[in-house]
Amino acid sequence: MSDQYKKEAAERAAQDVSSGMRLGIGTGSTAEFFVHALAQRVKEGLDVIGVPTSERTRKLASELGIRLTTLEELPQLDLTVDGADELDPRLSLIKGGGGAHLREKIVACASQSMIVIADGSKQVKTLGRFPLPIEVVPFGLETTRLAICDVLNGLKLPQKLELRGGAAHPFVTDGGHYILDAHLEAIDDAQTLAASLVAIPGVVEHGLFIDIATKAYVAGEDGVKTVLPI
Ligand code: A5P
Repeated sequence: MSDQYKKEAAERAAQDVSSGMRLGIGTGSTAEFFVHALAQRVKEGLDVIGVPTSERTRKLASELGIRLTTLEELPQLDLTVDGADELDPRLSLIKGGGGAHLREKIVACASQSMIVIADGSKQVKTLGRFPLPIEVVPFGLETTRLAICDVLNGLKLPQKLELRGGAAHPFVTDGGHYILDAHLEAIDDAQTLAASLVAIPGVVEHGLFIDIATKAYVAGEDGVKTVLPI
């Protein structure tokens, strides 16, 4: 059922796209429904250009005939549409379940607005049940891990970090980095955590998106709801 909801949210967002728009195109299973819905509109004559947030999205969008470019060619965008792993009532997000949150954040922040598309299971009161992805440079991994533990300890959060993919075969992001997934349960002060994490030299980016999303379409039993940040 959640696939049907993801599709409904994605199709609703595709209706907000108009000709001439410069689009950021997200990553993940929900974003893939958006790519399909967008491609259908392109076939019907919609004229847009997109910047994909991952190699995976680039491949799918180009196979489906969506005109693509890069941020080098087009550094400012009108709208990004992307999924999320969690969203709270302020539309703060956890992203990065698919490991693409670095490019996703760069693209979303280059856009005038960001629409989140999700099924209702992603809505939470407090972020943190979904493990927070923290993208790190492979060099000095253990040093960076300890520095992250210090930050978590200072904020009275659990110091439970897992190297995605495991030590033998770590998951490598499109940017050539590793991901430490932080099992935090409940993040009471996302702003402070976000600021403290990016201050660590080996941390490239984390999956907290604060004050970036401008609207969400959340689909469930009662149809697609529009959610604005409170
Ligand atoms: C990709 O890195 C993520 O940020 C995805 O946007 C997020 O994990 C949502 O993915 P699904 O739509 O597959 O749940």
